[in-house]
Amino acid sequence: MSHYDNIGLKYNAIKSTPWGRPELFNFKKHIQPFLSKPQINVLDLGCGTGFYTELLADWGAATVTAVDVSTAMLAGAKARIRNSRYASMVELFQGDGLKPTVYGPKPQSYDLIAGVWFLNYAKDFKELICMFSTIRKNLKQGGVFVGVCMHPAEDVYNFIVHRNSKLWAMTGLEDIYHDRLPGDAGFVFKAVFHPPKAVKFGQTIEFEAYHLKKSLYEAAAWLAGLQGKLEWQHCEFPDNLQGELGVDFDAIFS
Ligand SMILES: C[S@@+](CC[C@H](N)C(=O)[O-])C[C@H]1O[C@@H](n2cnc3c(N)ncnc32)[C@H](O)[C@@H]1O
Repeated sequence: MSHYDNIGLKYNAIKSTPWGRPELFNFKKHIQPFLSKPQINVLDLGCGTGFYTELLADWGAATVTAVDVSTAMLAGAKARIRNSRYASMVELFQGDGLKPTVYGPKPQSYDLIAGVWFLNYAKDFKELICMFSTIRKNLKQGGVFVGVCMHPAEDVYNFIVHRNSKLWAMTGLEDIYHDRLPGDAGFVFKAVFHPPKAVKFGQTIEFEAYHLKKSLYEAAAWLAGLQGKLEWQHCEFPDNLQGELGVDFDAIFS
């Protein structure tokens, strides 16, 4: 059983926190250019309740195959997709990204793979290689993986001590870093989300994940056999969003 089985549909409230808006803005900005060609088949790893699965279809994918390890999260995705205009374009599977598996009709079927908060469930270098192997087994030659993960820091401890956790709390998200991982690989953290009061049935949601150091992501991708350019993109906080949400994201990161 996955610890996400205790979260299920409650997870949706996270997207209503101020933090959800820049996440959506930045993910869309970086993935949409790869959806501009016709017939793009997408694999969404760690799809959760299907928030981005549906949007990937809306942004132009020809098909979306979505995979998650948790029964409850997948049930949430099924409910969302069943009621969506994209139901006929989407397939959902239960699967563990740590066990490299082919999800398409043959190996390397997908032009584009998305992993929004997927890689941060690898607790060490070995598991990170397994996740990137899942990506390699499913990604076409010349295809692209776009992931969202924790801030790329080589010295994760230094990142933790210098971030402004008081300002962070204004986004509705607290990251509580606790145990250091063996071999100086990074840290375990607890993410605690406080949905805005206006959200119906919104309640505090907690889960644990891993913040591994930047070079481990890079080395694991190469070792799993991914080729080509690896780019870390800056998270952008547009002025209108800062004003609307009343959160000074620039100050958080300064
Ligand atoms: C933070 S949620 C993100 C969900 C979705 N991508 C989104 O942004 O709304 C992380 C998801 O990854 C899934 N997950 C964690 N470990 C996984 C694994 N080894 N294989 C597949 N899914 C996994 C969890 O069940 C959960 O649904």
